[in-house]
Amino acid sequence: MRTIITGGSGLIGRTLAAELAAAEHEVIILSRTPGRVSGLPAGARAVGWDGRSAEGWQDLADGATAIVNLAGESIAAGRWTAARKQRIADSRHQAGAAVVQAVAGATTSPQVVIQASAVGYYGPRGDETITEDSAPGDDFLAQVCVPWETSTEEVERLGVRRAIIRTGIVLSRDGGALPQMMLPFRLFAGGPLGSGRQGFPWIHHADEVSAIRWLIEREDACGPFNLAAPETLTNAEFGRVLGRVMRRPAFMPTPGFALRLVLGELSTLLLDGQRQVPQRLLDHGFTFRFPTAEAALRDLLA
Ligand SMILES: NC(=O)c1ccc[n+]([C@@H]2O[C@H](COP(=O)([O-])OP(=O)(O)OC[C@H]3O[C@@H](n4cnc5c(N)ncnc54)[C@H](OP(=O)(O)O)[C@@H]3O)[C@@H](O)[C@H]2O)c1
Repeated sequence: MRTIITGGSGLIGRTLAAELAAAEHEVIILSRTPGRVSGLPAGARAVGWDGRSAEGWQDLADGATAIVNLAGESIAAGRWTAARKQRIADSRHQAGAAVVQAVAGATTSPQVVIQASAVGYYGPRGDETITEDSAPGDDFLAQVCVPWETSTEEVERLGVRRAIIRTGIVLSRDGGALPQMMLPFRLFAGGPLGSGRQGFPWIHHADEVSAIRWLIEREDACGPFNLAAPETLTNAEFGRVLGRVMRRPAFMPTPGFALRLVLGELSTLLLDGQRQVPQRLLDHGFTFRFPTAEAALRDLLA
């Protein structure tokens, strides 16, 4: 079993590599700087690619079990200038094109392509309940996610099963949103962001990677899947749980205008949200290890 993970050096990819290597997969992490990818588990190795073609890894795609396409410029690394927005979109479309090229060039096709996407597909939806049947949004993130999802659609015409993961906010000790969210709570200044009524779609990183593995293994799983915990919370409700687990107060609101001033359009990540329900995972019988925020945060902050 060989699984190729584009952008596998990142937060999700590293945890996924460990999960799959432990399950006896040969794991190939495609990185633009493979020499800098360290600390991989036994059974995983980094291979170089250019982020836009199958050059250098075409032969590895031949007969692979799965290609998991996670690569893309970080959306939270800084203010969304026009140049950064372009990189966020282009890097994802180019990675998708590379995956299609690798699948088309393989003598024996990979069995499945797992295509990354994000809850941002749905656009800002307040606390409206969102399932996979909900329509896409039309803000910047939705405009990134919609073509990102279709960037690997061609593999289906080549006879390859494809599942799309619309991931919520991945909670991990090692990076992503959680360590940053904890900062104000540490300083006794935690609380709701903006109105606090916006949905806060979250998932424990262990459930994120076990859902991806499950989608690789389930031969009947195709199409979009919301990867978010079944307990849907608003931003204020999540903040209250975080405060309780950290034994810190959670009543200090951060006004929306202040976040907009500091972060510009990027503030949408904090001020807008969705109540994202993992309807299709639940319908297919997937079991979450951390279905509630309380359980997830107690595990992560233990
Ligand atoms: N973490 C979350 O909460 C979350 C939620 C929803 C969706 N997602 C999406 O899921 C994917 C994986 O998430 P993550 O948190 O693991 O991301 P991450 O930590 O930012 O890792 C993404 C990887 O993509 C590669 N990359 C960055 N810029 C690139 C570019 N211009 N061209 C090609 N590759 C590039 C990098 O690998 P190299 O530098 O080694 O090439 C990086 O390690 C991302 O696309 C992200 O948008 C994440």
